Amino acid sequence: MREKLIAANWKMNGTIAEALQFIAALKFESKSGPRCEVVICPPFTVLYALDEALSGSPFKLGAQNMHWEEKGAFTGEISPEFLAELNVRYVILGHSERRQYFSETDEMVNKKIAAALDKTITPIVCVGETLVEHEAGQTVTKVRGQMEKALKNLSAAGMEHLVWAYEPIWAIGTGKNATAQHAQKVASEMRTLLETKCGKSVAETMRILYGGSVKANNAGDFLKEKDIDGLLVGSASVDPKEFAAILSTITA
Ligand code: PGA
Repeated sequence: MREKLIAANWKMNGTIAEALQFIAALKFESKSGPRCEVVICPPFTVLYALDEALSGSPFKLGAQNMHWEEKGAFTGEISPEFLAELNVRYVILGHSERRQYFSETDEMVNKKIAAALDKTITPIVCVGETLVEHEAGQTVTKVRGQMEKALKNLSAAGMEHLVWAYEPIWAIGTGKNATAQHAQKVASEMRTLLETKCGKSVAETMRILYGGSVKANNAGDFLKEKDIDGLLVGSASVDPKEFAAILSTITA
């Protein structure tokens, strides 16, 4: 059985002081401990402080991006090794904001996935369609294309650790979440593709998250769906009460 995973994508929010306050509040709000895997992905500048603050807690640390090279003349970039040194266990890759505002391509995402797996950092690979593609009925084609390019030349070893996040771009930060039925339909198509690419047993172990305007009042609907193994939460994840409420929707 796939363990559910809920990841917090803080985006460009959170000073060190705010992050430490958040963790203290989250620990207070979820005293009995989460019933799933929980990953907090703060800005890079906060990772060091959160590595300490999260030690001994059930919450794991993730990053929002990284470069694929180990080191060198890449001004402003962060390598997989830097993240591994800070006990970063997950990294969000190919988020639509990276693709849209920083021209990140499928080829770059593919290189980043290989580099993360090499350092045993679990990639959370984001895929999803624009509103225009959605309305034109091109969702599955777009998502399948992104996944095929993401997986190119990756060896089967380690692949089962990959996590996918289906994030329709029109649902991100808009307050207009996809319906759970739509998300399930796409997640099921994603798993079918994974079966053909990686075999049934690997496809069955890979987790597929939904992301896009997830809140405490809709989280449970997504989590009930068969192929949805968790959530990638943006704006609702910076409020410890709301985030704890999302975590508490996992009951079993
Ligand atoms: P949102 O963002 O929850 O604010 O829609 C989700 C994401 O970008 O991962």
